[in-house]
Amino acid sequence: MNFMDVVTARVLTKDYGSLRAVDAIDFAIAKGECFGFLGPNGAGKTTVMRIIYCFMPPTSGEVKVFGMNVAERPSDIKRRIGVMPQEDNLDPDLTVFENLIVYARYFDTPKKVSSGLASELLGFVDLQGKADVKIGNLSGGMKRRLILARSLINNPELLVLDEPTTGLDPHSRHAVWDKLNLLKAKGATLILTTHYMEEAEKLCDRVAIMDRGKILTIDSPGRLMQMHGGNLEDVYLKLTGLRLLEGARLES
Ligand SMILES: Nc1ncnc2c1ncn2[C@@H]1O[C@H](COP(=O)(O)OP(=O)(O)OP(=O)(O)O)[C@@H](O)[C@H]1O
Ligand SMILES: [Mg+2]
Repeated sequence: MNFMDVVTARVLTKDYGSLRAVDAIDFAIAKGECFGFLGPNGAGKTTVMRIIYCFMPPTSGEVKVFGMNVAERPSDIKRRIGVMPQEDNLDPDLTVFENLIVYARYFDTPKKVSSGLASELLGFVDLQGKADVKIGNLSGGMKRRLILARSLINNPELLVLDEPTTGLDPHSRHAVWDKLNLLKAKGATLILTTHYMEEAEKLCDRVAIMDRGKILTIDSPGRLMQMHGGNLEDVYLKLTGLRLLEGARLES
């Protein structure tokens, strides 16, 4: 851990009843870094993201964001982060534009400021033509892009993005990559999960490969490919596959 770390986790554990979803993991994410969590369905990625964005506290262990404990100062942390949850939690009764304005209210942004910002952000995600459309009339990918725009309404220093490009067409996905790189160039710290290895390779300075609540490895995509051979998908399949075989041996 050092003073440039934006997020630190020590022996982070999360149980849902008798299920241990995250199992005593440690990691540190530096300021300005793009850090990715990779891993199969159910590995525990969303659980880690939810703890970082203060949706729920850890069962045990300690997570700090901007040096503040998530269990003690969630409001102070939430003010400074942008969140893109895995699920669609847009308000279906409101229009695209209204969704942004209402969200800005949580941050006490004056209406005048939030109106300008909302228009700008709709342009940023290429939805300017949809401002007055109800959420139910958007396509899946458009909703995803709106949630990305919404996550930027408070000008966050840290973005926590749970599968930001799932469901996007290739053009939109590339456009979102460009946007995330732009935010990174401006100094934002990015934490994301993805099932697209190309995305992790293009965006992430470092990735944590998770499986069954544990981190198998943390390193840069470049170093992982060098050490294990092949592209990042080969590395991922090798590491998570080995783990599955170990599990099978233990169970048999
Ligand atoms: N609210 C909950 N209550 C009970 N169990 C949960 C809850 N949320 C997740 N789990 C369980 O915790 C484990 C980890 O789930 P999590 O959503 O963190 O995985 P994930 O890595 O994000 O998977 P995916 O790639 O499918 O999004 C899974 O076994 C899941 O069934
Ligand atoms: Mg998930």
